[in-house]
Amino acid sequence: MAVIIKNQKEIEYMREAGRILAIVHEELEKFIRPGISTLDIDRKGKEIIDSFHCIPSFLNYEGYPASICVSVNDEVVHGIPKKKRILKEGDIVSLDAGVIYKGYHSDAARTWAVGNISPENQRLIDVTRESFYEGIKFAKAGHHLHEISRAIQKYVESHGYSVVRDLVGHGVGASLHEDPQVPNFKPLGRGILLQPGMTLAIEPMVNAGRYEVWWLDDDWTVVTKDGSNSAHYENTVLITDGEPEILSIRK
Ligand code: MF3
Ligand code: CO
Repeated sequence: MAVIIKNQKEIEYMREAGRILAIVHEELEKFIRPGISTLDIDRKGKEIIDSFHCIPSFLNYEGYPASICVSVNDEVVHGIPKKKRILKEGDIVSLDAGVIYKGYHSDAARTWAVGNISPENQRLIDVTRESFYEGIKFAKAGHHLHEISRAIQKYVESHGYSVVRDLVGHGVGASLHEDPQVPNFKPLGRGILLQPGMTLAIEPMVNAGRYEVWWLDDDWTVVTKDGSNSAHYENTVLITDGEPEILSIRK
């Protein structure tokens, strides 16, 4: 396993990829409303990414047919946008997107409300986002990778939810997926020692019910086995000498 340490120039490119991706998510949040299709979201996302002369990281990645992953309610991640999948009031929708700028990727996900949602769904979204912030308290040089994983899992489970185990976060850079894997649950061992210049996509996927998932027949869409709703929150994070720098949120 080789974890790639980025130099200043690479970090600058990833900062720009992250800045643009933050704008993509902000614009898509405004676009979400009952009545639109998940394909409308993909089209809008592609249009915004194109306007920055960037490339959508996911388009054609291992054959993935769209620019934005759009996952509704019990869909965990990697939902394929469709003309006939119409969002309705009360749904929650997870959008995962990536942008390539000068050969460097950013990767980030958000779960948004469609119109008015139940307090339970809002709490699921909030706990998922908060678990990311619990995790990155340990995203610092001198800490071990699995301290991040443990913090995410502890926070999520203390709220009665579960973290998905079949999918994990990852290093990110000139490739969308680099070493190391970043689990949202505590595996065996401490994991690697974090160093300045590492760039990680930290991405809790949280189920309201049990953690088990399965794949739909399209071989992409991951859904909860128990049919409970699921939320996703992801950012591209730079490890520094001090506090982590979140590259994919607007500063
Ligand atoms: N953000 C996703 C991940 O890290 C990438 C989606 S895979 C794709 O797994 F094929 F949909 F692009
Ligand atoms: Co990712």
